[in-house]
Amino acid sequence: MIKNKSLVSINDISKEDMLRILELAADFEANPDQPLLRGKIIASLFFEPSTRTRLSFETAMNRLGARVIGFSDPGVTSATKGETLKDTIKMVSNYADLIVMRHYLEGAARYAAEQSPVPVINAGDGANQHPTQTLLDMYSINKTQGGLDNLKIALVGDLKYGRTVHSLIQAMSYFNPTFYFVAPDELKMPQEYKTFLDEKGITYEEHRDMADVLPTADILYMTRVQKERFSDLMEYERVKNTYVLHNDMLSVTKDNLRILHPLPRVGEISTDVDQNPKAYFFEQAKNGMYTRMAIIAAILGAKE
Ligand code: CP
Repeated sequence: MIKNKSLVSINDISKEDMLRILELAADFEANPDQPLLRGKIIASLFFEPSTRTRLSFETAMNRLGARVIGFSDPGVTSATKGETLKDTIKMVSNYADLIVMRHYLEGAARYAAEQSPVPVINAGDGANQHPTQTLLDMYSINKTQGGLDNLKIALVGDLKYGRTVHSLIQAMSYFNPTFYFVAPDELKMPQEYKTFLDEKGITYEEHRDMADVLPTADILYMTRVQKERFSDLMEYERVKNTYVLHNDMLSVTKDNLRILHPLPRVGEISTDVDQNPKAYFFEQAKNGMYTRMAIIAAILGAKE
């Protein structure tokens, strides 16, 4: 299991560990009041903005009975005086049993884990990885589809900078999926992830038009175009509204289709979709709390 280990990339954990975390998450969903971590202190360090990840992590920590220290704004820390990430992590690891960190730089979580004597959970590092989002996405897929095997998964939008899709395709590759990548040329799935799928023998198709994949998909995973990752804002303006899902587009979809989105959305899912029973993104965000309870409990050895 992942006891006492950092979770930096979804590739850090085995298929068996993933399935165990999903089992634990179901256990926490059925019984959320399990204060197994009384006496533990967990640090929540958010160098980049967040709503769901930070609040669901901190809710998970509180539900588990741990105490929480940290910051949601690095502007109130000594990073503003020039303190390095290495020194910050060394300090915080003096105080806490576990560190949850979001950072704007790719690789920051791996670096922090290398410096820290206590485990580090990556809550998103730049455009790189967001492994706890992946586990909650898997939990949501499993719950809505009754399993993880042989699914047709369409990923739409910003496949270049969207760290959640990068982690998700790697994790789901254990379960013989077929992927449909729908993106404008500027935001296509990076070659390294396509090479990964080629090496695993996983089928994928690339499309420009979302309508091509709607009748086929079991999961429609919409993503936000990540404005904060663009160096050229003109390019962002050009592509930001390429895909907008409206309720009337869903009439051609399968009954079991569920629409996921890591959120926040900024226009790629019209609000007229929200009442459709196929919309699952708010439940997905709630699942994040149970999944993060499971991850924290597993790493701190509260659930063997
Ligand atoms: N899904 C996600 O990471 O949302 P936040 O940026 O609000 O944490």
